Amino acid sequence: MRLALLGCGTVGSEVVRLLHHQADDLTARIGAPLEIVGIAVRRIGRERGDLPVDDGLFTTDALGLVKRDDVDVVVEVVGGIEPARTWLVEALRGGKSVITANKALLAEDGATLHDAAAEGGADLYYEASVAGAIPLLRPLRESLHGDNVTRVTGIVNGTTNFILSSMDATGAGFSEALEEATELGYAEADPTADVEGFDAAAKAAILASLAFHTRVTAADVFREGMTGVTAGDMASAREMGCTIKLLCIAERNEDSVSVRVHPAMIPRTHPLASVGDAFNAVFVEAEAAGQLMFYGRGAGGTPTASAVLGDVVAAARNRLSGTRAPSESNYAHLPVRPIGAAVTRYHINLDVDDKPGVLAAVAGVFAKHEVSIATVRQSGREEDAKLVIVTHVAPDANLAATVDALSQLEIVRSIASVLRVEGGV
Ligand code: NDP
Ligand code: HSE
Repeated sequence: MRLALLGCGTVGSEVVRLLHHQADDLTARIGAPLEIVGIAVRRIGRERGDLPVDDGLFTTDALGLVKRDDVDVVVEVVGGIEPARTWLVEALRGGKSVITANKALLAEDGATLHDAAAEGGADLYYEASVAGAIPLLRPLRESLHGDNVTRVTGIVNGTTNFILSSMDATGAGFSEALEEATELGYAEADPTADVEGFDAAAKAAILASLAFHTRVTAADVFREGMTGVTAGDMASAREMGCTIKLLCIAERNEDSVSVRVHPAMIPRTHPLASVGDAFNAVFVEAEAAGQLMFYGRGAGGTPTASAVLGDVVAAARNRLSGTRAPSESNYAHLPVRPIGAAVTRYHINLDVDDKPGVLAAVAGVFAKHEVSIATVRQSGREEDAKLVIVTHVAPDANLAATVDALSQLEIVRSIASVLRVEGGV
């Protein structure tokens, strides 16, 4: 089996190492040896440590490598939309098996890749694109195809989970925790894609597409980052027996799906609450299977390479036996509900005047927007009076309108924070 590797950075270099170190086992498992016939990179002369490959394999001509007749499997670990899409479409249309970790491309234009795979009769595998090492997409794509998935709730970004776990454990604010994450190598120099939720939104789109047999793109996902979560919010969550996580939530009802990424309070008893450090975990609910939990390392060269190689073995076996991976399942064609129609709960922290009638006025705003209050707590007096209100479930649009109306009340000095609440708080 001849393999073209596109990209030899954090993930690609570990793919090379694992292929080398496990060569005999992989040959035995597949029934044929795997041989790397070319490695496309941006800079040929870049220092790459002691990679166990011949320097002559490196090329900057990725498209030329993909087009070679002697290539069976193309592994893409470059990232980004173009030129990766052009390379992969070329490979798939030419009948080559494609393995990619490129969540950005799959979430933005997975349809083009799936269509090219169908056209070329080729395999398209992408286990590493969501939650790194965790075997998650194959269970959704194969094992659960006899069932109906109703909800997927996940922590799918390691950087932000490290930051929020650290804020929870130490009482640190966002900037301080981000600094620590950067020093320890968890956060990238530009952490925008992680902290603003773009990375998680791409993964949410991929998960929702597989779980609900419907094409969902990153543009369909409601996204709110976690830069606004304060040390005060975390303390407030702790007082309620909760913590705060950046969640991706994909839900299905009879005739539509909703997909969102935002920070949310969850009770400490929720299985996702104890997922600390930079770990990922995904909680899947299905009609017959009930609750399933997937946990592990969502990033890093070696863990991600493990998922890539699992796909390589599957694709190579398919080629040898003349079979194919399951093709895309998108028959349900469910529309995506806007965030306003999603049913959620809010935790609202208000700075208010401390005088008779304030509570009644605040409660009146909730009633007007048909939002039912679950609990109210007042702390402080006079200048320091604060109200913490937790609602029952209501359409997000009603909750957002309630917050907007509260901000216009004279007796509300400021809205200190608004957080969504998930799980049975
Ligand atoms: P890196 O930036 O470490 O590596 C990218 C590689 O692609 C480099 O080898 C680079 O070449 C090469 N490259 C960039 N542009 C081109 C080009 N135009 N032509 C040829 N080669 C090019 O990325 P990662 O390894 O971190 O990520 C790769 C993919 O895996 C991405 O899609 C990412 O989202 C995904 N992923 C990454 C995870 C991680 O933990 N890092 C986890 C899960 C998924 P050169 O070496 O010369 O610079
Ligand atoms: N930046 C991502 C994370 C890498 O922090 O989880 C894996 O996609």
